[in-house]
Amino acid sequence: METGETQLNFVGIEALLAYGEDMANAPRVEGSNPPPKPKSATDRIKKIKSANKSILRLVSKAQKGSFTAEAYRTERQLIIDHACEGDYLVFYAAWNYLLAEGALTPLLRSPIGSIQKPIHRRPASIVSRDQLTAQLIEGQIVLDLGDDRFWLLPKELSNRSLLFTMRHGLSRVDSGKYRVGRRLKNFLDEGKGFSKADAVGKALAKMLGVVGHQLEFFNLPNYLDPKKFEHRISKSPNTKQLFKRIIKSIVPNGHSKIKPDFDSTLESQDFGWVTGVDKKFELQEAVRIFECDETTVKKLIKNPLYCYPAGHSFFDFYIDVIDGFHQLAASNEGKAVCLYTHSSTLRALIIYLDSRPFKEAFSEFGEYKEKQDNVVLLASEQGNLMGYSTAVGLSAKEQANRDVWISSEQNRKELITLKPGQLKNIVALVSGGDFAGAGATLKELRVAAQRFGIDVYFAQHGFLGLANNWIKKISEEDTRGMVSRPSSPIGSSRFEEFKDERVQDIAVQNLKPYMDRGVLIVIGGDGSFRGARALFERQKIQIVGIPGSIDNNINGTTSLGFHSAITHANLSLESLKSTSAAMGSIFFVEVMGAGSGHIALACGFQARAEGVLVNEHPDPDTYIDQVILGTLKRTLGVPNKSHLFIVAEKTPHRHHPQGGVHGLTEYVSKTISEWRGFQQSEKLYKFHVATKATILGHTLRGAPPTPEDKALGQFLAYEAVQRLVDEPASIVGSILGSNGIGNIKTIPLHAVSPKPFDWQLFVRMHGNGPLPVKKSEQNMQSA
Ligand code: F6P
Repeated sequence: METGETQLNFVGIEALLAYGEDMANAPRVEGSNPPPKPKSATDRIKKIKSANKSILRLVSKAQKGSFTAEAYRTERQLIIDHACEGDYLVFYAAWNYLLAEGALTPLLRSPIGSIQKPIHRRPASIVSRDQLTAQLIEGQIVLDLGDDRFWLLPKELSNRSLLFTMRHGLSRVDSGKYRVGRRLKNFLDEGKGFSKADAVGKALAKMLGVVGHQLEFFNLPNYLDPKKFEHRISKSPNTKQLFKRIIKSIVPNGHSKIKPDFDSTLESQDFGWVTGVDKKFELQEAVRIFECDETTVKKLIKNPLYCYPAGHSFFDFYIDVIDGFHQLAASNEGKAVCLYTHSSTLRALIIYLDSRPFKEAFSEFGEYKEKQDNVVLLASEQGNLMGYSTAVGLSAKEQANRDVWISSEQNRKELITLKPGQLKNIVALVSGGDFAGAGATLKELRVAAQRFGIDVYFAQHGFLGLANNWIKKISEEDTRGMVSRPSSPIGSSRFEEFKDERVQDIAVQNLKPYMDRGVLIVIGGDGSFRGARALFERQKIQIVGIPGSIDNNINGTTSLGFHSAITHANLSLESLKSTSAAMGSIFFVEVMGAGSGHIALACGFQARAEGVLVNEHPDPDTYIDQVILGTLKRTLGVPNKSHLFIVAEKTPHRHHPQGGVHGLTEYVSKTISEWRGFQQSEKLYKFHVATKATILGHTLRGAPPTPEDKALGQFLAYEAVQRLVDEPASIVGSILGSNGIGNIKTIPLHAVSPKPFDWQLFVRMHGNGPLPVKKSEQNMQSA
């Protein structure tokens, strides 16, 4: 979807004023409660100028990170009250005029309070049925999410909160036809609306029932006992009706005593004067007043920053929802809360939970319709929201529709301009955290390209090099010896500014001389492919991706650098194992991979480590207490036994705010010093167990390339060139993946997704056979 402001040049102040006023006087359905109509005034243009200045100040403050969500709201209201003298029409015209000029775009990237997406996201531990092994679910609560997905939860909530967020479903005034929003009190449709609410209730009851039994089995207080849930609704009656029907399903006896509370976070978007207006009429009038066609005018109305007259924009609403949900979670620690709300709230949450920046996620989930998910399940932990959206209560047909939200594949094909046999230039870059194997890939790109008579250019330091025009033609001499070079011989970078479309446009200008019958090859990880996708979809730059990241976190392929990182880590792990076995010390080794534990798991598995602490684990604290300490209880003091634990960077736990190995050594050494097994007889010298932390960190990124990575890089590079020459339509707008030489596949950029954590391997590595025991074990276990 294109949302560039250049396409809004049909928007002028006079037309905005006329359209705003038109909407204030538009016919609307019964039950609408819009704000009072605008009074007549003659000096609006002057006021708009002063309002523009104030709005620009707000944007610049937001960019500087000066706002919490509350402060942003207050400042916005102050502009309406003072600069616009309370005239909503002035604000409407001033705001949307700046939107059309592109001056508001920075807001989408501004660090406004809690709405900033976390950099390192903790994945919700969701596994499929075939991964539900006995060892994995031991000590966890398993929530059946319904579509072959199971959510592992800790046995007690302690400092977390769970938010079950449900939307009302079908209501009497159809939001597909009319602008509904918070100013129209809507009621559930007695036919389809009631039955949908009942279906969601039944599915939820089933989920919770299973959990209740598990907690009962563990003899633990049932934190998912629906009788103890808190319930929150919005002011629209349909959310109360939804509550009533759901509570009947989840608390069949005694539901009449349970009452919901109102929470403003659950309100829908404010459409101001457009509340209750027929959407077709809204559009037709815009076509008439702005004097352009429907497709063009939709670019304004569907823009996330478009502010409804006397209402607010989706972006304003998003701020309210995300900030409100953080507050709801913080004020309900240790509790489960059911939230009954509207589809726009769910849409805002899905956009927030998506790892892409707001604008990209918005264009993916721009339309949220009846046929999509009904429930978003959220867990909050240390102020972070993580979650999952599910199709609970949808019919099979509706579920199938949900899976085709996006018809991006058609779109990809339409964006391909390169024809077979046409390729003349290749520009290649390496982007994101560096990795081994990039050199081999680059070298082969040049060699293969030369065979086809194609010129090759490298951009230094990734997208940063594109924006700075560090693009250079490559000769044989330039790539000599590259195959064996660690890291990226042409540099790489993390370049956050590239999310800004204006920066992308500069890069496109710099690329232009090479892009006539040319292609850009981006070698990098998931973040780099998001940048690549933006260039492809917005600017039709012909792009191919080659996966490279030590994290190996792209589904369906092995990423370059992963093998080398593990091989390099192995050197240190074996050294540490030797010293650990000799001295009896405990080693916690931190490896990279914040938010993705593939490296930690691979390191731990091959080294036969005693444990692996990863971000994906549903309950790291319990893992530390039960698995790490439980293992040490059995193995400490066993002659020649090493004690090695691999810890993924930033895995959260209660022993240090930074997580990972921080705080772990102190906690473990203090705990084991209290075990009686080590306070042996007074007559003997005390057994001294040292607990050490080693951070391998960036050594893994600069690892020398292994033969696997060199071969993989060359293989993918050759395939990329060959396919670009022979059948570009099969790979442009895609990445080339492989799970081993010969196993080539293409993954469209729009379908690049995170690789699920390998719980089976995790379980297998922990095993269930007996661990080595020493003679005094009896003594220690009684401690
Ligand atoms: O490139 C991936 C990665 O190395 C992750 O494993 C790690 O968590 C992150 O980058 C660290 O990034 P940086 O070194 O840029 O802070």
